[in-house]
Amino acid sequence: MIFACRLIIFDGKGYNFLLGTIEEQPPRGDGAPMPHPFHNHVALVTGASSGIGHSLAMQLAKHGAKVGVIARRRELLEELVNSIRSAGGVAAFATADVGRRDETQAAVAEIRRQLGPIDLLIANAGVGTPTLLEPLNIRDVEKMFQVNVLGTIYAIEAVLPEMVSRKTGRIAAVSSLAAFKGLPGESGYCASKAAVNAYLEGLRIQLHGRGISVTLACPGFVKTPMTEINDFSMPFLLSADQAADHVLWAIRRRKKMHRFPRRMSWIVRLTGLLPDWMIARGMKSYGEKPPMNDLG
Ligand SMILES: NC(=O)c1ccc[n+]([C@@H]2O[C@H](COP(=O)([O-])OP(=O)(O)OC[C@H]3O[C@@H](n4cnc5c(N)ncnc54)[C@H](OP(=O)(O)O)[C@@H]3O)[C@@H](O)[C@H]2O)c1
Repeated sequence: MIFACRLIIFDGKGYNFLLGTIEEQPPRGDGAPMPHPFHNHVALVTGASSGIGHSLAMQLAKHGAKVGVIARRRELLEELVNSIRSAGGVAAFATADVGRRDETQAAVAEIRRQLGPIDLLIANAGVGTPTLLEPLNIRDVEKMFQVNVLGTIYAIEAVLPEMVSRKTGRIAAVSSLAAFKGLPGESGYCASKAAVNAYLEGLRIQLHGRGISVTLACPGFVKTPMTEINDFSMPFLLSADQAADHVLWAIRRRKKMHRFPRRMSWIVRLTGLLPDWMIARGMKSYGEKPPMNDLG
């Protein structure tokens, strides 16, 4: 592997990145010669009304999975399910705010009623907004923990007992490379994803030997509605389809953790070695005037 890195300062938008020249292994695709392991399996994707979750649902359907989708926006879920069905696939939807335990339980029960026992859960629903300093926007931080952390845990709760009793299943969460470094102006989001990683890691070890795999997929920047508000350069930006490819590749191989794209993952690792003053200086304008979106 060729590995040479240089520090690039994205001035104006205030981001510092270590950019690496690293031979990148693309996701090896899910079209390998083996029969597709998701065929006829019931796959449940939360946060499937847009972005990565939408691409995951479409790709799973293409691989022959029966796809259950959950999010809050009914019309978008309906559209997604209709397009899967009109292509000959099997799909069902249920609406829920995954940050609400009762709604998540009810939505998963509805999907199970329509499609059968869940073989694969991808807890993908998530929200992200900057963490402000003056004043501290605690409600936004609470919302990120409610959806990103508890939403993931509630979805797992809704499928796990059945997987344990059937001694089979796959659980995955779409976390983030942000889990690996607390960044100024993003501490709430980074902390929520770090919590997801720690939870799933512990769960994975606890489930050892029970036939259930636990996979953490940690993307860098992906072009979705979540990032369209960003007015700074997003290195190694992936499309939602590319991100979904990566996620499914990792789940299929029962990977513990997949960080992607590889070059962005190295940048995050190397950023962890930088002194605080350098990161603070590089992200000064971001920290002072972050792009704000509406958490809904
Ligand atoms: N885009 C990136 O650069 C990036 C990078 C790393 C990780 N991620 C992670 O990837 C995941 C998907 O994000 P995305 O980029 O695809 O963004 P997105 O297009 O905004 O999708 C977010 C999805 O989550 C759903 N959602 C949000 N809050 C919800 C709630 N309370 N209950 C149920 N569903 C909810 C949304 O549906 P409704 O609004 O219809 O509920 C939507 O389907 C997130 O976990 C995000 O943190 C994204």
